[in-house]
Amino acid sequence: MANLSEILKSETLTSHKQVEKLVIDQIKKINNEDDYIALLEKFYLFYQGIEELSFPYLQEQQAAAELCEKRSPLILQDFEELQTGKAIAIGGLSALPIPQNYPEALVALYVLEGSSLGGPYIAKMLEKRGIQRGLNFFRGDQADFMQHWQQFKNLLNEIPETTDYEHLTDFSNAVFTGFGKILDKNYQLAYSS
Ligand code: HEM
Repeated sequence: MANLSEILKSETLTSHKQVEKLVIDQIKKINNEDDYIALLEKFYLFYQGIEELSFPYLQEQQAAAELCEKRSPLILQDFEELQTGKAIAIGGLSALPIPQNYPEALVALYVLEGSSLGGPYIAKMLEKRGIQRGLNFFRGDQADFMQHWQQFKNLLNEIPETTDYEHLTDFSNAVFTGFGKILDKNYQLAYSS
């Protein structure tokens, strides 16, 4: 039987493709910093929401508590760099599924951890759209990025096989869909089965 990280990767592929396309479409429409700030706000709602809902459960596993760090504060730093005085609405939670235990929290964070792998590509696309500052969140600052990703996948693979993996992949897909809805309220996942 494949391990949970591999199952998640294959079972959320459709979600990834759809959300990736949505993000790319929105980047292509960016013409100035205000447009960029509007996109960054959506990432903030998503990251801040999932982190707030998931991090309390990480305390149950020391390795997870030590490995995972919140990344939404980096977005706040970028807002400062962009000198936006905009108050950030806390409204992302209604679109997101709410983890009720450690395994659900971890597969929700899988979506965030994975999305940071695409960050450097997003940063390059934004540079091409003329964005020159406030890119710290997307660029990432971890030299040991792949090592961190591997360690995170190890945490996923330590979730016992007796756990309902199908439920966990559904949960992860629901997190992707939540972000899709934050990006575009009409978003729907077209399941490929
Ligand atoms: C322009 C947008 C994006 C690009 C270009 C992109 C690109 C990538 C790439 C290249 C990888 C593979 C990295 C590797 O294994 O070496 C990856 C993985 C991943 N991305 Fe994205 N991504 C984008 C947006 C997103 C978003 C918005 C999310 C989530 C909301 C996301 C979630 C994930 C996840 C969960 C993985 C891990 C897949 C696995 O299990 O290996 N991505 N992405």
